[in-house]
Amino acid sequence: MQGLKEKIDMQSLPRHIAIIMDGNGRWAKEKGQDRLYGHFHGVESVRNIVEGCAELGIEYLTLYAFSTENWDRPEYEVSGLMELLVDTIRKEVPVLNKNNIKLHVIGDTGMLPENARKALGEALDETAQNTGLNLIMALSYSSRWELVNAVKLIAEDVKTGKIDPSYINQDTLQKYLTTSQFPDPELMIRTSGEYRISNFLLYQLAYAELYFTNTRWPDFRKKNLYEAIIDFQGRERRFGKTSDQLKQEAAALH
Ligand code: IPE
Ligand code: IPE
Ligand code: MG
Repeated sequence: MQGLKEKIDMQSLPRHIAIIMDGNGRWAKEKGQDRLYGHFHGVESVRNIVEGCAELGIEYLTLYAFSTENWDRPEYEVSGLMELLVDTIRKEVPVLNKNNIKLHVIGDTGMLPENARKALGEALDETAQNTGLNLIMALSYSSRWELVNAVKLIAEDVKTGKIDPSYINQDTLQKYLTTSQFPDPELMIRTSGEYRISNFLLYQLAYAELYFTNTRWPDFRKKNLYEAIIDFQGRERRFGKTSDQLKQEAAALH
C-alpha cells in the first residue's frame, strides 16, 4: 500500500474528488446480512477515505450519501440511514476538528428529519473555522433538484431587478448552484460496478474524469483511492482541444 501512495504525483493531484458511494446493500446481502449492516460498515470507508484525502492534501471531497430518489426506499431503510447519519455526525465532529476538516452540506436538507438538521447545523458551525480539507456531504441531493432550484432563484432575482437576463452567463448559473463555493470535481469515482451518474452533479461533472470500480463501498479503502488517483493522473485532459495543441502549450510553458 505504501508503494502505491508513492506512485502518486503530488504536483498534479485533483483539487476536488467526488464519490458515489454505492454497493452497501449488495455487500451486506452477500454476507447474508441486512442492508443496514452494509450502511453501517460504509461509515468505516467514509472515515478511511476522508482521512486519506486529508493526508494527501486534497482540497475538496464530495460524498454522495443520500439522493432525492433514495427517499423512495422502504421506510425501514430510510429511517435507519437517518439514524446512522445523526449518530455519525455527532461522533465525528471532534475527529473533523482534530484533522482541520470543514464540513459542508449540499442538497434539499429541508427534507431531512428535525434531529438530523439540528445535528448537521451544529456540525457545520463547529467546523466552520477549519482550513484543511473541505468535506461536502450530498444529502437529499439530486442534480435536477439543484438545477430547478437555481432556475427559481435566478427568476426571482430577475423579477426584482437584481440581474439583467441579457447578462446571464455560465458564471451566473454557477453562482446559483449549491456548489457555488467549490471548484468543479476533476475526478468522479463510483464504486460497486454501476456505470451511471444517478443524478449527481450533472452540470459540475462536465469535464470530470470518471472512474468506475467493482469494489463495493464498504470495501473501499485508501489503497483503492490511490489507484483511482493514479489512473486519473495517467489520463490526458483535452477540454476539446487536440493532443498536439496540449503538447505545444506545455512546451511553451517550459
Ligand atoms: C449506497 O449503497 C448507499 C445509499 C444509496 C444510501 P446502496 O444502498 O445503494 O447499495 P446497493 O447499490 O443496493 O448495493
Ligand atoms: C446513488 O446510488 C446515490 C448514492 C450513492 C447516495 P443509488 O444506489 O441510489 O443509485 P441507483 O438507484 O443504483 O442509480
Ligand atoms: Mg445503490
